[in-house]
Parts: sequence; structure tokens; C-alpha cells
Amino acid sequence: MANYQKIKGTQDFFGTEILKLRYIEKVASNIANNFGFNEIKTPIFENTEVFVRLGDESDIVTKEMYTFLDKGNRSITLRPEGTAAVVRSYLENKLYANNLPLTKLYYFGPMFRYERPQAGRYREFHQFGVEVFGKSTALLDCDVIISAYQILKKLKIDNFVLKINSIGDYESRKLYSDTLQSYFKEHLNDLCDDCKRRIEKNPLRILDCKVDNNNPILLNAPKIHDFLNQSSKQYFQEVLSILNQFNIPYEVDEKLVRGLDYYTDTVFEFIINSQDDLNGIAICGGGKYAELVKSFNGMDIPGIGYAMGVERLIAIMDIQNKWDGLINNDLDVLIISLDYESKLKALEIAHLLRDHNFKTEIDYENITMKQQFKLADKLNPKFIMIIGEEERQNGVVSIKDSRTKTQESVANRDIITYLKGKLI
Ligand code: HAM
Repeated sequence: MANYQKIKGTQDFFGTEILKLRYIEKVASNIANNFGFNEIKTPIFENTEVFVRLGDESDIVTKEMYTFLDKGNRSITLRPEGTAAVVRSYLENKLYANNLPLTKLYYFGPMFRYERPQAGRYREFHQFGVEVFGKSTALLDCDVIISAYQILKKLKIDNFVLKINSIGDYESRKLYSDTLQSYFKEHLNDLCDDCKRRIEKNPLRILDCKVDNNNPILLNAPKIHDFLNQSSKQYFQEVLSILNQFNIPYEVDEKLVRGLDYYTDTVFEFIINSQDDLNGIAICGGGKYAELVKSFNGMDIPGIGYAMGVERLIAIMDIQNKWDGLINNDLDVLIISLDYESKLKALEIAHLLRDHNFKTEIDYENITMKQQFKLADKLNPKFIMIIGEEERQNGVVSIKDSRTKTQESVANRDIITYLKGKLI
């Protein structure tokens, strides 16, 4: 039997849900824009190699990518995240050649991961993300983190925590990774199957094991902070001190290593504390990546960025009741018209109103006055405009304010001024 249902882990957005998605996009883009970011839009699919850069031991690359051969036998992948695609575009379009100290980009769009669908976890989901290329400074790291913080604050989200950690520069991370590897090899039998596989290529990810995070072997593992070299330590201290100075609350979480392999030094996540199955979920994750650009073409350009899960933000705002007064797509005017000539006039006035940004609807059929008022009940417009033969002959319309229930006769040439005055 044909299956005409949406694919598991995907959603249709319509009605208020699409308004919520757009609202978050608007708020986030606005703040990013004020922070000096410009928008970038990359394709939804890329050559698979682009995403293999994320680390061939990351779960995303090994298990979660939607990869297929196109008709030309090329391996194509639906983007599982934005960073690698933005790096590809940054290099391909030589965006570094603008001679500015930094290139600051933001994006909004769907991402695809073959994950097990559950609360807040989808196979198609939307991310709002930013990436900055060009410099590595603690001040920049903090400004990027603060931009995410401000977006969450502007959305009025409560009960989130910024978790932050340093996983050191490449050198410190290598030393730590080797030490962890030897440690875990001694406790091989106490690890889950996934972690056994991670030992060889990415022992850091074992710390992030979702199967048993109370495993004493994980809790007692060597700690990254004992392996940071002097410059990584200083860098991290500076990041924390700037956050303190700007009163950004945070928790240092030594277990935070993030699910992608490209990070160095600062990594962070914003986590939600909630009374339900979204408790502990990440609404934003990011960090600094000194090596990713190099892994594409050898250029030594550091980057930093983050991405927020838009569906998760929507879910949290639903739970926390944050939508009141934010999403409103009500009809401004419904024009009720009585005879065919009046309907033509209604259409003419509708075009005028739409030109002035009033959301306007008319009756296109020849339904009765009573039916048109029923339609008004359903559409709930702010104003009902009535046009009949008498109004036409006098060059006026009758406008009823749905809120005050008052009705006035308004000359055709004054309609726009009248409505604008009412809507202030
Ligand atoms: P990520 O931690 O994989 O990082 O994803 C960022 C955010 O996307 C998560 O915190 C979460 O809110 C959301 N998210 C991830 N997977 C799903 C899913 N299956 N369903 C719903 N939401 C999801 C990245 O993607 C990096 N590219 C972030 C970054 C940018 N790092 C540096 N620059």
C-alpha cells in the first residue's frame, strides 16, 4: 500500500507552528545582525567529503548521515549540520579575501540526521547557527557566547544553564587523548560496545557516553584540565574572567567534549532544566575550531561558532508559555460585499489595502450576507468592511471594528488613513 505519511522524525509546519519557527528565525537573525554577522545560505546537500571532515569517528558521520548516490554516481549527503558546509563555502568563495580581520556569518535552515526520534530529537530539524573565521581571541569567544545568551534571553527562555569547558589546543588534546586511550584500554570490559569502538579513534567521546554516564570508569577517568598546556589554561581562564565581568552565569563542566571532532579549546552548550522529558537537553552547542579549515585546504584559519536547535526552542517556549502576544497573524480586514459590482469594488479596495500591508480577504463567491458574517466569525478579522450598492453610489464603505463593535461610514479616499489610525 502506498505510504503517504510524513517520514518518521520529520514535521509539517503550518498554522501557529510555522509562525513560531519564523519568530525564532527573526529574533535570532536580528541579534546576529546587530552583532555584525551577515547571512549565508548554503545548499541543503553537499558532496559527502565535506561532512567527513567532521571526524570519521563522530556519531554523526558514522551513523547519522543521509548519504546517497545521485544519478551521476556521486556520493551526496543531506547536511547534518551547518559548520562544515559554511567552511566549504567560505573557502570556495574566498570570503577570507575581503581583508577584514573577521568573517562573521549566520544561517538558518533544515539539517538532517538519522537519529532515533524522541522528545526534542528529529531526523529533520532546524538550526540557527553562526560561524566566525579569522581570529582566535578569548574576547571573540565570549562575544560569540554572549550573542547566543542574548538570543535565549530575548526569547525569554527560563532555566537554562551555560556549560563550558576547554578541551585544549591540538597539542594538549592529543596528550590527553593518548592518556585516556591507555586508561580505557585497561578497563575495556567495563565499557559499552560503542565506547569499545571509540577507543582507537576518539577516546574523548567515551566521556560523553550516553549509555551509562554514571559508570565509575568514566567518572574516575583522567581529567582534561590536568592536561591543558599553559597557553590553553590561560586562554580558558581569560574566557571565564570575561564571562564573569559581563555577568554571564556558567558552569564549568569537565565532561563536556561535544559530539563533533573539530573542536579545540573553548566548547560550550546551553542546557535546559525542565520538569519533563526535555530536562537536560541541549538547546545550543558550539565551540572553537582551530583545525577544521586546515583540514579542508591547509589554510591556518581558526573559527568559532554555535548552533541552536529551533524545534527544541519552540518546545521549551511551549512548556514555559512564552508565546503570548508574540505570534499574531490575524486577518486585518474582511470585505463583505453584496452584489457583483460591489464584489469588483471589494477586490479593488482589497488590492489597495494589501499594497498598504493590511492582510485582507474578500468573499469570492456569491454567498449570502449571513454566510459572509459566518465566515467573519471564523476568520476573526480586526475589521469587517461592508460594500453594497448604497456605499458604492456614495463613494464610501462601512467599517466595523470587531473589538469595539462600532461601525462607521468612511469615504473611499480616507480608508487607509482611517485604518492606520485605528491600528496604532
Ligand atoms: P550540535 O551540538 O550537533 O552542533 O547541534 C547543535 C544543536 O542542534 C543542539 O544543541 C540541538 O539543540 C540541535 N540538534 C542537534 N541534533 C538535533 C536533532 N536530531 N533534533 C533536534 N535538534 C537537534 C552542531 O551542529 C555544530 N555545527 C554547532 C557549531 C557551529 N559548532 C561550531 N559552529
